[in-house]
Amino acid sequence: MKILIENIKTIVGANPRPQEKLSGKEMSTLPCIHNAWLSTENGLISGMGEMKDGLPAKAGFDKVIDASGKFVFPSWCDSHTHIVYAGSREGEFVDRIKGLSYEEIARNGGGILNSAERLNKTSEDELFDSAMHRLNEITSYGTGAVEIKSGYGLSVEGELKMLRVIKKLKAHSPLTIKANFLGAHAMPTKYKQNRQEYIDLIINEMLPVIAKEKLADYCDVFCDRGFYTVEETDAILQAGLKYGLQPKIHANELDYSGGIQVGVKNNALSVDHLEFTGDAEIDCLLKSKTMPTLLPSTAFFLGLHYPPARKMIDASLPIALATDYNPGSSPSGKMAFILSLACVKMKMLPEEAINAATVNSAYAMGLSKTHGTITVGKKANLFITQPIPSYSFIPYSFGSDLIETTIINGKLV
Ligand code: NIG
Ligand code: FE
Repeated sequence: MKILIENIKTIVGANPRPQEKLSGKEMSTLPCIHNAWLSTENGLISGMGEMKDGLPAKAGFDKVIDASGKFVFPSWCDSHTHIVYAGSREGEFVDRIKGLSYEEIARNGGGILNSAERLNKTSEDELFDSAMHRLNEITSYGTGAVEIKSGYGLSVEGELKMLRVIKKLKAHSPLTIKANFLGAHAMPTKYKQNRQEYIDLIINEMLPVIAKEKLADYCDVFCDRGFYTVEETDAILQAGLKYGLQPKIHANELDYSGGIQVGVKNNALSVDHLEFTGDAEIDCLLKSKTMPTLLPSTAFFLGLHYPPARKMIDASLPIALATDYNPGSSPSGKMAFILSLACVKMKMLPEEAINAATVNSAYAMGLSKTHGTITVGKKANLFITQPIPSYSFIPYSFGSDLIETTIINGKLV
């Protein structure tokens, strides 16, 4: 299919020579083309330019779209989600309103263990259907690439079931999907007195099958107070690396857990959450290629303090943004709301937030060569807004649905 979009008010993130990631001051630069046209062919962006310089003949296209007054954005890249799950957890939401904390709920067998109990009782087909529904939902919000974690199985069968569902989603959804193995998401109750037994199960029973069936691209651990220690995280990440799974982990959501350091030590592609990030963590990240990824809707939903995004960017770090879409700590996959939170609560500029949710979050999924900017030769994953006055209007008008048309792999969806 060949599509021509003409009279575009502004193409955002139109970068002819994109860097693989943007750090510090670079994050506030957002290349744009005004009064523009863009074409797609065979699933890729095939051309773009200013209207005044002339555009290709319309006769050669299957579809011509008039985007007068509208903006074209590269699709959001959501580099951290848990969208394969069973049931919902609004009971815990109400418990938190009444005063219980996320950690207290987890210690009482709720939280991740609650989702694991339900997931183990749910069939692969049901999990596939509900996750597919969520993928369609986030597609309508403008997301074009997504990372999905396991981690609600917490048993050999449960974890493999989740990863097989993700593999099937990859085959059936037009979105670009990366799978992350999170067997070490929580400690199942029956192993609480013998943690090593469960860790051995991850290393000796789960990882070999995952590698053999090519079920995961990355390996994750929830390295935090009350979850996995630094030593346990290190052992699991090194086992994953032996099977070619690069780390991409949960760290420092609940405390200065050492998670950032152990992630960097193991060459993690990203370390995610980072509510507890101080000078030592910033120094450690500055010496690495690891992408710090912030999930502000989790801080919003759990009432945590927000990660120090401003301090991190001012220290020359890159930042990626993602939704953490999951039933416990962030039951929403709406990237535009993440941008609003990033701007309002973490004082990121709209340009920084847009770059964090596109180029840098593409990097956090190993997709910078193909996703995250509007560049000839990259995947034609983009969306067209309703008529809006500026790109800052997206984070400004929080909660609004401003996307009119979504194109994935060069096809209208
Ligand atoms: O990213 N922090 C750990 N894991 C998830 C929460 C999962 C859950 O509560 O179900 C997160 O916030
Ligand atoms: Fe998460």
